[in-house]
Amino acid sequence: MKFIDLSAQQKRIREKIDLGFKRVLDHGQYIMGPEIAAVEKRLAEFAGARHALTCATGTDALLMALMAYDVEPGDAILTTPFTFVATAEVVALLGAEPVFVDIDPDTFNIDPVKIQTAVEGAKKRGLTPRGIIPVDLFGLPADFDHIFKVAKENELFVLDDACQGFGGVYKGKKLGSVGDVTAASFFPAKPLGVYGDGGAVFTDDDSLADEMRSIRIHGMGSDKYDNVRIGINGRFDTLQAVVLDAKLDIFDEEILLRQKVADAYSARLKHAVKLQAAPDGLKSVWAQYSMTSPKKGAIVSALTEAGIPTAVYYPIPLHLQTAFKYLGRSAGDFPVSEKIAKEIFSVPMHPYLSEADIEAVSSAILSAVK
Ligand SMILES: Cc1ncc(COP(=O)(O)O)c(C=O)c1O
Repeated sequence: MKFIDLSAQQKRIREKIDLGFKRVLDHGQYIMGPEIAAVEKRLAEFAGARHALTCATGTDALLMALMAYDVEPGDAILTTPFTFVATAEVVALLGAEPVFVDIDPDTFNIDPVKIQTAVEGAKKRGLTPRGIIPVDLFGLPADFDHIFKVAKENELFVLDDACQGFGGVYKGKKLGSVGDVTAASFFPAKPLGVYGDGGAVFTDDDSLADEMRSIRIHGMGSDKYDNVRIGINGRFDTLQAVVLDAKLDIFDEEILLRQKVADAYSARLKHAVKLQAAPDGLKSVWAQYSMTSPKKGAIVSALTEAGIPTAVYYPIPLHLQTAFKYLGRSAGDFPVSEKIAKEIFSVPMHPYLSEADIEAVSSAILSAVK
């Protein structure tokens, strides 16, 4: 059994990809070819956002958004310590400070109740709070109503890190149209992954979109040789746009298939382990199927013995990772994240997981917790 099996999916879209690659090889516009604008139009329509701009990675998507907001040294950006490193890395890259806020024990997403205290703490240390980066962890949308309330009270922007969550729905709105700006990743293992790196930013704000469009290509202006701001080389490849276009054809159907797998797992496991909560009105895209248990060691050993792969996202919260030592945080500062990091693990999840595989994973877990 594979943790993520992309081969069944590839069979469905292979023909379209082969034809698309041939078309790109024929026209030769490998950089910013016509496939880029075409897929951006589809992405914007899918998410219900005014603008979708593709870029090289999800990390660049986050970085471009922060650069468009002119985030700089002395600024504080509030985010979760229970995420992939890129969420906070981009803040540090711009010389601003990632200010961590602990997570909710049931959703594993940033706990909005704790944001205000962190904002005040940052101000006391002489920092200027500028924005919040909620993460839709494992595909589950963050608690946006409460996040926006704190954001408005403090004049902060909300940059949704939907690198795992793109395809998820928050109270009837697709991610991409919820945050002031949203970052998505098309890394191969993501629910909407391509065959290499890729990402996109989404926003309804015209001037922010213009800035990000410029930042994506070295801060370009209307004159090709007069760059108007400092930017990056953040373009998406034309060949990957072909893959993304093919995957978008089946994405809605795959989201339903992921939900079916998640439902089948949770029916079997809900009394044996603690599952990630799915609050009313929120639809996860199930980038990962994760659970916690004080018996994690025994469960993971049983799964390994049965030939079932597992993964741990994330064993070390960011405030305890070496790269962020300079922030001066220590063990005990974010107790919910630290406890969950010890007890969490993920099991195979993809749209084509068979009933027999779901049963094998579940029965190994159920017998290990007995
Ligand atoms: C929460 C989160 N943020 C950011 C990223 C960065 O995305 P990428 O790998 O496309 O740069 C990822 C992807 O791994 C992620 O999971």
